[in-house]
Amino acid sequence: MSEAEFKQSVPSAFDVPRHVAIIMDGNGRWAAARGLPRVEGHRRGVEALRRTIRAAGEIGIKIVTIFSFSAENWSRPANEVGELMGLLRRFIRNDLAELHKSNVRVRVIGERAGLEADIERLLVEAEELTKTNHGLTLVVAFNYGARQEIVRAVRSIAAAVKQGDLNVADIDMHMFAGFLDAPDIPDPDLIIRTSGEQRLSNFLLWQAAYSELVFVPTYWPDFDRATLEGAIREYRQRERRFGGLVAQTGS
Ligand code: FPP
Repeated sequence: MSEAEFKQSVPSAFDVPRHVAIIMDGNGRWAAARGLPRVEGHRRGVEALRRTIRAAGEIGIKIVTIFSFSAENWSRPANEVGELMGLLRRFIRNDLAELHKSNVRVRVIGERAGLEADIERLLVEAEELTKTNHGLTLVVAFNYGARQEIVRAVRSIAAAVKQGDLNVADIDMHMFAGFLDAPDIPDPDLIIRTSGEQRLSNFLLWQAAYSELVFVPTYWPDFDRATLEGAIREYRQRERRFGGLVAQTGS
């Protein structure tokens, strides 16, 4: 579909999801299908990521969250973990200036403790450099697990109660969400998982309460603007009711 046709098929900006979160799955299978090492799938996955960030900005999506390294990914073979760390380093070193020029604001969620010092510095640098940008927000979930994020929030709340800064009776959903890793980021309207797997795998469990889930068979390295547009079309056909009766479209 051409850009003009796609725009024409969008009744209003209201129908474009404000926040799209993506589980970038299938890099290993993409590589295996071509007789290539798994790491080659991850490398090609970075190219798909670049394409997706560009397309999302053009389509009018405001926030993209990517699951780039899960808290559970440490259990992979050391060379694959090393390659994923290397890809993050190279992505920030090579692409940060370009992202900044394109007005992208980078945010990072996940556990910082336990990361190598230079990786932590790069993540902080990316957030600092781009913090006043007002284009697309790219939320990088790195060393991220949703249950771990919830436990971190519970610990902070318990510490505040113990300090006498918070009353147990004042804890509600809104306050709880304020203790999560990026409380100012609205919940995802749409979560896309590639590769045909149909589960959330410990991604944004709290924030996904009312998200529409779209599963596409495409392996992540093949993901492109057309796949993203297809997922958005499916999203538009869903009725979002947020537990009520009145149908709503978009966010
Ligand atoms: C899942 O594929 C993907 C990952 C575990 C990592 C995602 C990482 C990238 C797309 C590139 C890195 C990007 C940055 C910014 C660091 P899989 O290996 O689980 O695939 P499989 O299920 O086919 O084995």
